[in-house]
Amino acid sequence: MNIEKRKNILLKKFKELYPESNNPKVFAGPGRVNIIGGHTDYNLGFVLPTAVDREILMVAQNRDDYLLKIFSLDYNDLKEVSLYDLKFDNEKRWANYLMGVFYFLKGSGFKLKGMNIVFSGDIPQGGGMSSSAALEVVTAYTARALQDLNLTDIDLIKLSQKAENKFVGVMCGIMDQFASTMSKKNHLIFLDCADLSFKLIPMKFSDIKFVICDTKKERTLATSEYNKRRQQCSAAVEILKKYIPGIRALRDVSIEDFEKYKNKLPSPLNKRAEHVIYEIDRVKKVVEALGRNDLDCIGKLQRESQRSMRDLFEISCDELDIMVDLANSVRGVYGTRIIGGGFGGCTISLVKLEAIEDFKSKILSEYPKKTGKIPEIWVCESSDGVREIK
Ligand code: GLA
Repeated sequence: MNIEKRKNILLKKFKELYPESNNPKVFAGPGRVNIIGGHTDYNLGFVLPTAVDREILMVAQNRDDYLLKIFSLDYNDLKEVSLYDLKFDNEKRWANYLMGVFYFLKGSGFKLKGMNIVFSGDIPQGGGMSSSAALEVVTAYTARALQDLNLTDIDLIKLSQKAENKFVGVMCGIMDQFASTMSKKNHLIFLDCADLSFKLIPMKFSDIKFVICDTKKERTLATSEYNKRRQQCSAAVEILKKYIPGIRALRDVSIEDFEKYKNKLPSPLNKRAEHVIYEIDRVKKVVEALGRNDLDCIGKLQRESQRSMRDLFEISCDELDIMVDLANSVRGVYGTRIIGGGFGGCTISLVKLEAIEDFKSKILSEYPKKTGKIPEIWVCESSDGVREIK
């Protein structure tokens, strides 16, 4: 459904729920894909994401008291929370993402007012496309816009990440919140997660598309295994520090040093570190290849990245492996890889325009036979980051 239609449905619901608020505004926080750079962000490496044309839409207006009234259209569920009673509550499920943002806004010293909110999203939930970051970012952006909060974009990104790390309890890196905030349509963000410096790289190719396939495999292990991978990367750094003084993160370990000292790392720390160190290098190589418009090279690096995530970082699963193999077997596909944290969710393929129909029919006919699951496929467009929809 297009954004205009979705907006009108939300506005109607808003009016029905909060007849006293008659001047709401509408905001959009997009999901993202990452072309390459899996699990490199929290290792202070590089990533190459962009926001896509699937987003959380949020309609909101300030209240005169301290109450947050939040309605999720997708769950048909209204939650009421006081700004004075913001603590993580399992029973409040989706509302924790918004509560976390308000909690840290308050913690930053802002005198907040309550709000009436209605929102919905079309980013696959738990699909590795950052539906949670999109929700955090659009909540922070909405509050900033409606309550005139003196918050820079970088503050907003960091605060949204903090809501996920310290309120919801997922130790994600900075990539998703950054991409959902800073993206520009038709560009990729080449982000250095060590100091958040970035370059916008124009996407010049007109004869290829990024195609997303949702495996429909729930990412049940996503949180616990994600946090475990993060700890393993830190543990590897602690050991390598003894041999390479001054390193802060795997980002600071050169390939040469890694090859020299990798035998000091027990398994699986050696595999985890190998993935991250070579993956950071692959991001740089993809950026160089973009400059030459060398799609074969980009596809090859995406395939390497996928193998490394499967065999060394071990974040794949049967459904993802099947999807990746099917996608790569179509003529006209350059490369395919997991988009987000792994353990299920979506893949992204770089596909020639003329191969898209073959691609769709192959996945739609073969994937269900092999997995019993019906996949969802869509050709995605890049998009601007979080914004007001007038
Ligand atoms: C999730 C996290 C990100 C990043 C990716 C893996 O999407 O939220 O911070 O670590 O996984 O690249």
